[in-house]
Amino acid sequence: MEENQEQVVSMPRIGDPAPAFKAVTTQGEINFPADYKGQWVILFSHPADFTPVCTSEFMTFASMEKQFDQANCKLVGLSVDGLYSHIAWLRTIKDKIEYKGMKDVEVKFPLIEDITMEVAKKYGMIQPGEATTKAVRAVFFIDPKGMIRTIIYYPLSLGRNFDELYRVLIALQTADEFGIATPADWRPGDDVIVPPAGSCGTAKDRMEGKEDMHCYDWFFCTKKLDKEKVLDTILKK
Ligand code: BEZ
Repeated sequence: MEENQEQVVSMPRIGDPAPAFKAVTTQGEINFPADYKGQWVILFSHPADFTPVCTSEFMTFASMEKQFDQANCKLVGLSVDGLYSHIAWLRTIKDKIEYKGMKDVEVKFPLIEDITMEVAKKYGMIQPGEATTKAVRAVFFIDPKGMIRTIIYYPLSLGRNFDELYRVLIALQTADEFGIATPADWRPGDDVIVPPAGSCGTAKDRMEGKEDMHCYDWFFCTKKLDKEKVLDTILKK
């Protein structure tokens, strides 16, 4: 490839600052991620408006928007469609689609128009092996300092699990607030993993049960963390 043809495609990584951009959305212009400073934000892409998997996803996310907001998290969608397509699609969803008990669903979070694919390319949402003219289903969790904390990608055919996206958000916030890690399939109320020996009691103390924790071996210790304590800390009253 010649130098001046170099592809402007990047793949942001966990721990990177969220790439900045300005864009037009269904809720007006946004300056990302600056407009979301002090809040968590999930930036997610979908392949195309007026498609069935995406419709099921938007209805689900919109129905859960309050739940995410209570955890100080805003939602921002993106596809490479234009603004008028976005508006017409969201109106159709509200006026016509009844799905799994959800109806009259109003998508109030911004949906970015990205006809030039500039933002999608910046975020590695165009994955040519899957599609060259559509974004895959990417999900970026961005923290209140504008840092990328988790990235999940799904192919075009696979609708996302929104309970899992909510679980990831709560687990990230719990890790930050309590200085712990979360084991496989963790949900609030389950035991959490304490940091390695040295930062919290000696290995001997841990194995002898002197600390308030249970050790499966010297490198694997857990402790209780009440569900109420997690939710009282994280969720807005
Ligand atoms: C859908 O959302 O249904 C979809 C979109 C693009 C390709 C395949 C499915």
